[in-house]
Amino acid sequence: MTQDELKRLVGQAAADYVNTHVPDGAVLGVGTGSTVNCFIDALAPHKSRFRGAVSSSVATTARLEQHGIRVFDLNEIESLPVYVDGADEIDASGAMIKGGGGALTREKIVASVSEVFVCIADRSKRVDVLGTFPLPIEVVPMARTAIGRQVMALSGVPVLRVRNDGSPYVTDNGNEIIDVKGLHIDDPRGLEALINAWPGVVTVGLFASRGADLCLLGSDQGVEMVSYDV
Ligand code: A5P
Repeated sequence: MTQDELKRLVGQAAADYVNTHVPDGAVLGVGTGSTVNCFIDALAPHKSRFRGAVSSSVATTARLEQHGIRVFDLNEIESLPVYVDGADEIDASGAMIKGGGGALTREKIVASVSEVFVCIADRSKRVDVLGTFPLPIEVVPMARTAIGRQVMALSGVPVLRVRNDGSPYVTDNGNEIIDVKGLHIDDPRGLEALINAWPGVVTVGLFASRGADLCLLGSDQGVEMVSYDV
């Protein structure tokens, strides 16, 4: 199967999971990315079962609304039974690198109020050690260079994310992203806490202290459901 076919497969599996595990009238947490887009498309025929969704990005909001799925502000919602999102890498403990699509901050916020985090990914995202995929850090622009120095002290290589025209990429929150190459992350929770403490860091794209509860992992053999002990 191609990677796009695998994304559709796990998107459908996530819609099936939500349909069988989430009660009628619930509000769902929805992540961002091409795999999540497949989930939204698979969920759309069942939208009348749900009250709506809390979205993790402007792009996801647009796709949900195209399908006629109501989008709630997170401030209107007390808790979410489930949050469905993709990942750039996921390890054996359910810790992830996320933010390749730039939505890491809102993703982390929505995930934090969700009871169950369902990661959807194709088999290529499963790694033994996180760090081959560059680690995104959303930063307040004035702190960009100072944070770059901190990254280099960890032997990482900071690269400012840019648009096609060479100007800095700007997140939905008006900040910039540094992608850190060259890390070998053998303590995801420790590194998440360390980077979070640097002034000017909005969010680090390590999802380890609140990682996935389960992963729907797609491969040529089908979809494997992997659960993680928290
Ligand atoms: C968005 O910011 C990311 O966290 C995505 O969840 C992640 O990059 C996976 O995206 P794809 O499903 O497009 O690979």
